[in-house]
Amino acid sequence: MRAGRIESVSPSILLLPGKKGCRESLRPAGNLQGSLKVRVVVVDSDVISLNGIFAGAILHRLQIMRARRGLGLAGGRVESAGRLKDMDKLPFENRTALITGSSRGIGRSIALSFARHGADIVVNHHRQGGSSEAGAKQLCDEVRALGRRAFVVRADISVKDSVKGLFEETKREFDRLDFLILNAARAPFKPIERLLERELRQLVETNYLGNIFCIQAALPLLEKTQGKIVFISSLGSRFYNPAYPLGSMKAAMESVVRDTAESLGGRGISVNGVCAGIVKTDSFKVLRQYMEEIDRMPEGLFVEPEEVADVVMFLCSPAGRGIRGQTLVVDRGLSNSLYRSVAVK
Ligand SMILES: NC(=O)c1ccc[n+]([C@@H]2O[C@H](COP(=O)([O-])OP(=O)(O)OC[C@H]3O[C@@H](n4cnc5c(N)ncnc54)[C@H](OP(=O)(O)O)[C@@H]3O)[C@@H](O)[C@H]2O)c1
Repeated sequence: MRAGRIESVSPSILLLPGKKGCRESLRPAGNLQGSLKVRVVVVDSDVISLNGIFAGAILHRLQIMRARRGLGLAGGRVESAGRLKDMDKLPFENRTALITGSSRGIGRSIALSFARHGADIVVNHHRQGGSSEAGAKQLCDEVRALGRRAFVVRADISVKDSVKGLFEETKREFDRLDFLILNAARAPFKPIERLLERELRQLVETNYLGNIFCIQAALPLLEKTQGKIVFISSLGSRFYNPAYPLGSMKAAMESVVRDTAESLGGRGISVNGVCAGIVKTDSFKVLRQYMEEIDRMPEGLFVEPEEVADVVMFLCSPAGRGIRGQTLVVDRGLSNSLYRSVAVK
């Protein structure tokens, strides 16, 4: 092997000449290796071999990271021998993802992650104008800057006709849908027994009915692509929180995840959930006002939006194909222990 070249030594193995800094750049690949079963083998101090479905994505990431550091990759050229071209392809290229409530927070992070993995994006949000509309437009621009297609549909998922319009527009623009991410949520923060009738209805209409409307409207498109649905849940689905009636809807939806995984599995559609711990988004800022104790939570237990997005990518990738009807907990271990020392970092 010559230094300064990238070579394909078999249909599934890619060799990258390392040079100084290469191993350091590959650290994110090491993380992927753990969660996505990508095999990364350091052959010797100068050569690194990648093997697996995400090799192309890792290579792409490595190229970007090294370009940012002005390093270039292996003489700046990718050999196109054998399947090297295929491996360089991003895993979700020519796929389409619709993320409800993606103008900010976790939804935004999931949308960007899909785009980085090659997917075109439908951005959805609810409120007209202001920061919501600006956030959705900015996200679209960022997705396009990554070389992917994106458009915004303002739609209220709690209104059936609005949801119908969301999926009609998706069909018109992209004519396909591979991934439906049920992320949008909105709920008051107060005990269930104090909810006004209007608040109760909004709770159920947005966080239960709205998600079912989306599943129903997406079916014709998802059936064609053998698509995947991922619901974003929270620890409130299984633990009491005095100011979090949304938890009961999350619990109901986790049951819908299990049921629809069975009822839609025969049509080639997979359904799973991700139950996130506590993430510092806009909704967390509101939660803080009702739960002062949350400020005493060790910093290391807060989950980053990207950590949630990574698990959504895993469930949507071929590596997640064996998982059906499950809700995976991503909470940095928060729910493992009843008691914690405040000294825990
Ligand atoms: N933050 C956490 O600690 C945490 C933890 C676990 C799980 N989760 C879950 O993760 C998801 C995202 O949370 P987040 O904290 O990122 O939320 P967020 O910052 O409050 O953002 C909510 C998003 O949902 C949209 N939305 C609200 N109602 C909608 C409706 N009726 N139709 C369409 N879109 C609607 C909002 O659009 P507008 O901007 O137009 O209002 C916004 O884009 C939620 O399901 C949440 O329950 C959050």
